[in-house]
Amino acid sequence: MYIPEEKVSEILNASDIVDVISESVILKKSGRNFFGLCPFHSEKTPSFSVNAGKQIFHCFGCSAGGNVLSYVMKYHGTTFPEAAKMMARKYNITIETKEIDPAIKRQLHLKENLFRLNKIVMGTYFDELKNSKTGEIARQYLNDRGILDNTIELFRLGFSPDNWDTIVKVLKERKISKNIAVQSGLILERKQNNGYYDRFRNRIMFPIFDINMQVAGFGGRVMDDAMPKYMNSPETPVYNKSRILYGLHASKQFCRQEGLVYIVEGYFDFLSLYQHGIKNTVASLGTALTADHVRILKGYAPRMVLVFDSDTAGINAAKRSVKIFMNEGVDTRILVLPQGNDPDSYVVKHGQKAFNELALNAKTMMQFLLQVSIDAHGLSVEGRIRILEDMKKQLILIQDSALRSLYVKELAETLNIDEKAVLEKVREQYLSHPEKKSFLSEGKKQDAKLESDRREEQMISLMLNYPEIIDEIKDKEVLDYFYSEKLKCLARKILSMDPKKEAFITNVMAGMENTEDQELIASYAMDDFFSEQDIHQTALSIIHRIIRVRKKQENTLTTKIISAEKGCDSDLMDLLKQKQAEIQQLHDQL
Ligand code: UTP
Ligand code: MN
Repeated sequence: MYIPEEKVSEILNASDIVDVISESVILKKSGRNFFGLCPFHSEKTPSFSVNAGKQIFHCFGCSAGGNVLSYVMKYHGTTFPEAAKMMARKYNITIETKEIDPAIKRQLHLKENLFRLNKIVMGTYFDELKNSKTGEIARQYLNDRGILDNTIELFRLGFSPDNWDTIVKVLKERKISKNIAVQSGLILERKQNNGYYDRFRNRIMFPIFDINMQVAGFGGRVMDDAMPKYMNSPETPVYNKSRILYGLHASKQFCRQEGLVYIVEGYFDFLSLYQHGIKNTVASLGTALTADHVRILKGYAPRMVLVFDSDTAGINAAKRSVKIFMNEGVDTRILVLPQGNDPDSYVVKHGQKAFNELALNAKTMMQFLLQVSIDAHGLSVEGRIRILEDMKKQLILIQDSALRSLYVKELAETLNIDEKAVLEKVREQYLSHPEKKSFLSEGKKQDAKLESDRREEQMISLMLNYPEIIDEIKDKEVLDYFYSEKLKCLARKILSMDPKKEAFITNVMAGMENTEDQELIASYAMDDFFSEQDIHQTALSIIHRIIRVRKKQENTLTTKIISAEKGCDSDLMDLLKQKQAEIQQLHDQL
């Protein structure tokens, strides 16, 4: 660990896991825990739980789990020291950089420097737009497109002048290292190796913020018909295109409020809608939406509406996205705008009210796909057969069987084909589809557990939730009687921690080196169904059971072996020894 233990404890003590996770997951209280949709796997019903008392999270669906730092690492894809720094910043705790390992520190600094540089450059572009003489044409352009001054301020829009070295100069003045400047993608090295030049020239600039309001990258639009129309920063250590959505930093509160998010494609679509009071919007920036995007959005709104142009490109983009949304099990509608419109032009022409009304009639994904297929094939006999072929591929992607059967019914009615025949087609597709494996195996994940494991796990749950019994456990040396080597090892680690320390669970977790152990700790800590009154009694009875069962089983085996030896029944003896080895092996594997 590269940050001192006391610092980590300080951060863990200061932070509140419910607070932190609520920023990215919609949590609802239920009993002792909070529940929400897991941001780490696709699910329709919440199995992601957070416990405020224990300061841990655990997903009953995918087994992800840990403390607040494990969450930040997993959600933001950061290293441990970065997560610690993020939380330290949030809770006003200072971490001396000398406390951090040099290699890790370099990586941390790189990211911090990239953010700092992007912020400086954002300031330059903004200034050029607002105050420079050459910025006049950009001001005029934005004005012509109806972008208001306070939108420019709020989203820090800018202008990159028609020079090769505006940013090169700024970075030189600020003594920013060439290495960092190049990594940011804002300047490029000349071919003949004689200096550098600006990537963005003579464009309207859009800074792209991440969820923590830091500038991750930029997009730039020409002001005429030149190509390429838009240019974007490349991927950098701070700009991950598969995770960032334009505008979410500003719209997240409105997405929560409305329980709904509009997903549009372009910068201007976003800004126009926002300006017209439709603030629960994000833009995908023309890239394909990813599962990560959808999972992130799920943390802000349970319902989503994809807004697309009605041209072929728009329809194709919608078709591609549908698969992702279906896999993620999100309630998603598709709004195809009237011919010749994009969200920007539509809302400018018709206003907020008309847009909202249109959105109310957005199609479900199935209705949309069906419409596309009907438009392509028509409703003749051959057409309907083709439509069925199209749709069966989509239907098997729906994980919720009740929902699937509703769609089958709807499809059968629309096509006027017998429901059973439709169902048969879907089943055929399902069986011949390579993805079926993951479907079928899902239910079997929970293999029958060994009885001994259950007892040993209960023991660990007790240790974590009631550290006052730990002395007893040490006394009775119960770990020696564990069958599972893995659980024994975990229990030993827990025993080595100080049970008198506050926030025992979080501290135990901080002491675990690997994620797998942390996840196990979270799941056992959550599994607390003991009644607090007679914890000592419960502990004793589990301890005794563990010891008794093991002794008894070993006695029986030994007796049999001895008597077999006496009777010289060598076959039986071999069998018994083999059996014993097998049992041990089985326990060791788990
Ligand atoms: P569109 O071509 O639909 O443009 O691209 P738009 O958003 O309506 O732009 P305006 O209204 O003409 O200004 C949608 C989005 O796809 C990305 C941009 O993020 C754009 O906003 N895009 C488009 C690019 O990244 N590069 C391009 O060359 C074009
Ligand atoms: Mn447009």
